[in-house]
This record gives sequence, C-alpha cells and structure tokens, in this order.
Amino acid sequence: MVQDSVLRLVVLISGGGSNLRALLEASDDAAFPARVVAIGADRDAEGLAHAEEYGIPSFVVPYGSFDSREAWGDELLDQLSQWEADLVILSGFMRLLPPRVVSALSPALINTHPAYLPEFPGAHAVRDAVAASVHETGASVIVVDGGVDTGPILAQRRIPVLPGDTEGRLHDRIKLVERQLLVDVVLDIANGRIDLAELSA
Ligand code: GAR
Repeated sequence: MVQDSVLRLVVLISGGGSNLRALLEASDDAAFPARVVAIGADRDAEGLAHAEEYGIPSFVVPYGSFDSREAWGDELLDQLSQWEADLVILSGFMRLLPPRVVSALSPALINTHPAYLPEFPGAHAVRDAVAASVHETGASVIVVDGGVDTGPILAQRRIPVLPGDTEGRLHDRIKLVERQLLVDVVLDIANGRIDLAELSA
C-alpha cells in the first residue's frame, strides 16, 4: 500500500517501457520515495507487460478510437484523475497532448527525451542526431509545457555518438543514461531538491 509521504506516479507509455521498468525496479527498494500507482498507454503497448508483472493497474486510451485529439485527451485526463497522481511521467509516450491536458497537469508532468534539448526535439530525435553526423547527443528530462520538447530542463547528460552508430545502437546507449536520469529526477522531486511548483508551464 502506498503511504501518504510517497510520491504517487502515473507513467504513460507507447512502446517497450524500458524507462518505466527502471522506475519499477527503483521502487523495489522500500526506501525509494515514489511508487508507480498506474500505467497508461495510447495503444496496446508492449510495455504494459511490466504493469502486469508488477501487479500495477493499467489503462489504454486508444488514440484511434476518438474523433479528435481533444476528445482523446479528455478521456485520458479522466482516466488520469482517478489515480491522484503527484506526478505524471511521459516515458516514451509518442503522442502530443492537447493543451487542455497540459494545462491541467503541468508542471507535475515530465517527459524523457533521447537528445540534449534544445537539440533534436520531436519524435525522431535519435534518427535526426545520426543524420546530422554530430559527435555527441544526449538525454534530457524536462517539464512538459505547451510546445514540443520546449519545457524547463530538469536534468540532462551528454552521450557520444560513436563511429558506425545506427539509430538503434545509439538509442540503446541513450536509454541506459535516460533511465538513471529519470530515477534521479523522481528522487529529487520527492525529496524537494527539485521544486516543480517553481517552474511555470
Ligand atoms: C525513450 O528513449 C524516450 O526518451 C523516447 O522514447 C523512448 C522510449 O523507450 N521518447 C521520445 O522520443 C519522446 N519524444 P522505452 O519505451 O523503452 O522506455
């Protein structure tokens, strides 16, 4: 059972959920001051298997079942509101949230991004970094605001692009760093070292 002093997290995913997995593993330690209370997805995502394995409730709000992004977002917000989350984490959630959802949740709405923002925003950050032949890229955790990957940066780290890197290889290395950044940011929020209330959306 989740105690009052523990940060309640809802994690939204679209894919494999390896960053989500890192959070779940961190919460295996009873001293970790946050717990994933629900996992949501916009599709029948592979990563929902982690919810099942950990016995955590999950929900799917399929984007394609709604007439508009706004109607989809309203249902998503409705689902999210049931979990009294202190923090909603977009962890490989590949849909832009409608402004109504962002205003309702931000700044307690954060996103992991596989680049050193503001470099390479958008849905193809790793592919774009490889195509640009840069020598380094990175990983970032940000607050979600009304733009695409434009919110306040909470943590980020540089990662070298190695000769012969493919998008997949580079992304795998980025994810190793992202995971740690995400767990550290959640820890900092829970411990008050990061004060989201001070950050405007
Ligand atoms: C992560 O690299 C995350 O930063 C990225 O999707 C991956 C999800 O991996 N998100 C974005 O690109 C959002 N613009 P995972 O499903 O294995 O955690």
